[in-house]
Amino acid sequence: MPKCTIDGREVEFKAGENLIEVARKVGIEVPYFCYHPALTVVAQCRMCAVEVEKMPKLQTACSTPAAEGMVVRTNSERAKQNQKSIMEFLLINHPLDCPICDKAGECDLQDNSYKYGDAYMRTSEERRTYLDLDMGPVIKKNMNRCIHCTRCIRFGTEVAGIHEMVAVQRGNNTEITTIDGRPLETDYAGNYADICPTGSLTLKDFRFHKRAWMLKKTATVCEGCSKGCNMEIHQDNNVIHRTVPRANPEINKYWLCDEGRFNYHYVVDPKRVTAPKVGAERSTWHAAVAEAKARLHGKKVVVLAGTDLTLEEAKLLQDFVPKAFPGSALLHFGTPGIETTAKDAPADKILKRKSKTSNLNGFEKLGIKPLESMPAADAILVVRGGRAQLPKVEGLSNVIGLGVFTESESASFAAVLPGTSFAEKDGTIVNYEGREQRLRRAITPVGQSKALGEVLMLWLHSGAAKEAAV
Ligand code: SF4
Ligand code: SF4
Ligand code: FES
Repeated sequence: MPKCTIDGREVEFKAGENLIEVARKVGIEVPYFCYHPALTVVAQCRMCAVEVEKMPKLQTACSTPAAEGMVVRTNSERAKQNQKSIMEFLLINHPLDCPICDKAGECDLQDNSYKYGDAYMRTSEERRTYLDLDMGPVIKKNMNRCIHCTRCIRFGTEVAGIHEMVAVQRGNNTEITTIDGRPLETDYAGNYADICPTGSLTLKDFRFHKRAWMLKKTATVCEGCSKGCNMEIHQDNNVIHRTVPRANPEINKYWLCDEGRFNYHYVVDPKRVTAPKVGAERSTWHAAVAEAKARLHGKKVVVLAGTDLTLEEAKLLQDFVPKAFPGSALLHFGTPGIETTAKDAPADKILKRKSKTSNLNGFEKLGIKPLESMPAADAILVVRGGRAQLPKVEGLSNVIGLGVFTESESASFAAVLPGTSFAEKDGTIVNYEGREQRLRRAITPVGQSKALGEVLMLWLHSGAAKEAAV
């Protein structure tokens, strides 16, 4: 492998790698704004300029590929002076409103200013201000904070496949906006907030909810479709405040679709049933389990399991069903029209898939058959994680819900045993291409909800334990 020297350290690199990435390999940070590893390189901000031996001028590290024998200094006096000058230049028009900005604590402008800027600034001129048009339901725009890095424009055209963000005017009057001030159209709009290195584009869904440094982060996987995009759940005090993409070059790169990003809302939906119910009334766990067992006892039962459950949960059901209801069928449901992986396909050219649950492939691997049409039955046990689309069970009198349901979804159920969503449990899911990934528990189960294994144990052994114990 070819080698170059960065700040006195010899580094191996692959042909074509730029100096930011090569320096990163040995833990040397080169500050930057406009560069993003998944977007084209435009070398606009000049923050990443470094000294390269035998080159008279500073070179932008984002647009300079490493070369054999190259000697680079990222921390020379000239490089440091450039960083200070660029920071001073970028802040000439910045409102410095970090105390009320949602990006504070995770803002490249703030971090680079602190690490590489100067505490002293020479300007006293009035700052430029903009009137901001509404950008639709996902993104809140504040152009006073913009540093014109154009990452958002490039994300639109290069990743989302829509040229909706543009730069209008020139020089000091440059403004990033949408064409004709229209609302954003892409289904991937949340990513604009992630890639903006300042607080110019923030998520409406998250604004003013929490300071970034108060959030506890759990690495997990999106359950929004069979793609299995990697994400982090950010919570504080057991309340989920947002989910953000977790980079995985082989699955989702750096992105999430909006459907997956905002899917977590059902977990904290006040209409979610989080206490056991018998009919329309709140109940105790013992009474609800007893009611459910009585309703299903001696009947011809069909067990319907959502493909939003984990592999472990599906396996538990495979063991439980023959014991509790000998001879009964265990069938899966999830996305109407996409009952098998053979019918699953990309839903767009970016990430989304047609199967709107995370584990259809896992259920097939366990040999569980799909629900094609409702078999004749006297009673039904519906088990789901929260996302699988419920089959029609209205008109049937002995329907028991086990898992995550809203009040209206379960209004006709004889009993509800509240279970856990994807954010409240550990488990394995298998994406459309057979990749096994782990869901990680980010919050404790909401209300009185219980893990599926616990509920099945109660079911099999109820009567043996005292009510006070659960
Ligand atoms: S809005 Fe953000 S991403 Fe877009 S140009 Fe301005 S600073 Fe860059
Ligand atoms: S494409 Fe699917 S897995 Fe990825 S973020 Fe969207 S819903 Fe989630
Ligand atoms: S990151 Fe290199 S010029 Fe902006």
